[in-house]
Amino acid sequence: MVADNKTVKKTDNQASIKPLIDITKSDMDKVNKLIIAMAGSDVEMIPEVSNHLISSGGKRLRPMLTLASARLFGYQGSGHIKLATAVEFMHTATLLHDDVVDDSDLRRGKSTARMIWGNEASVLVGDFLLGQAFKMMVEVNSMDALSVLANAAAIIAEGEVMQLAAAKHLTTTEDEYLKVINAKTAALFSAAAEVGPIIAGCGQQERQALKHYGTSLGLAFQLVDDALDYGGNSENLGKNTGDDFREGKITMPVILSYIRGDETEKKFWKQSLEEGKNDDDALAHAQKLMQQHHSLEDTIKAARHHGNEALKALDGLAPSKEKAALCEVIEFCISRVN
Ligand code: IPE
Ligand code: IPE
Ligand code: MG
Ligand code: MG
Repeated sequence: MVADNKTVKKTDNQASIKPLIDITKSDMDKVNKLIIAMAGSDVEMIPEVSNHLISSGGKRLRPMLTLASARLFGYQGSGHIKLATAVEFMHTATLLHDDVVDDSDLRRGKSTARMIWGNEASVLVGDFLLGQAFKMMVEVNSMDALSVLANAAAIIAEGEVMQLAAAKHLTTTEDEYLKVINAKTAALFSAAAEVGPIIAGCGQQERQALKHYGTSLGLAFQLVDDALDYGGNSENLGKNTGDDFREGKITMPVILSYIRGDETEKKFWKQSLEEGKNDDDALAHAQKLMQQHHSLEDTIKAARHHGNEALKALDGLAPSKEKAALCEVIEFCISRVN
């Protein structure tokens, strides 16, 4: 939660992801083993680069969504392990690619792969992991699950390209921004949650419920991420704050501040985001304007709206420990600091 307008303060957010961690623990042990196995290759640089990122942790939120949403519907097979691993590989691949696109230096508290091995290696190893993800999906033998995840893979890339085209354009609307985050982030959350009921053999109603849950949760997650890029703390996040500013990314906090700003402020935003006058002083000024205009606070409010939508999506489902964990992780995503 935002305690004041500028700083998204550290809260005790461990409590609310814990139920999800607890109920997926034995399945996640298998996923983590499969992650290591599938990152292997005789081409030495591949496990070197992959393991650098994989061993630095990450929340593993998306694979846990897949595992919990399969168990939610009583799934007893083993296909969810491969699907969850594929989902995390898709995520890992997008991070390797995204850090190149965003010129990011820090990820999960370490230097990004691109800083150590170069952009080429980061992109190519990302491609390898994406390939491995598809191999696992195919092995599960569910055309519907394959179709949902393949679709997500294309949409994520579309989202990143859409964002690239919108960068440095302060005329980007809130609607256009939402389209970008829907594609680059919510699509994978959505697919991760929907393949659970698919593999459990559920009908459209259950699929739609989990799909909407994942989409709304993903939108909330990215809105919070975009607030944290200005109001968060690098140490907690394991990535540098201010990356979005330096890249001229038009995110919700910027859109709100720009609309609410007077002519002098609009000129500042143009100079910093469109023309690249984005040194540390400019970043501090941007943060001050965001505080004045309640932009981070309102970005979190928007995230909370989508969080409520995620909660509503699960309304019709019978109570279970999986449902409770999926509901509770929504609050984690909104109040998270990492
Ligand atoms: C980072 O996702 C990319 C975004 C969608 C903002 P996470 O915050 O889930 O990254 P890890 O896996 O925990 O490092
Ligand atoms: C997150 O993009 C979505 C993808 C990686 C596809 P961001 O660029 O906002 O995420 P961070 O801040 O680098 O984690
Ligand atoms: Mg990035
Ligand atoms: Mg970001």
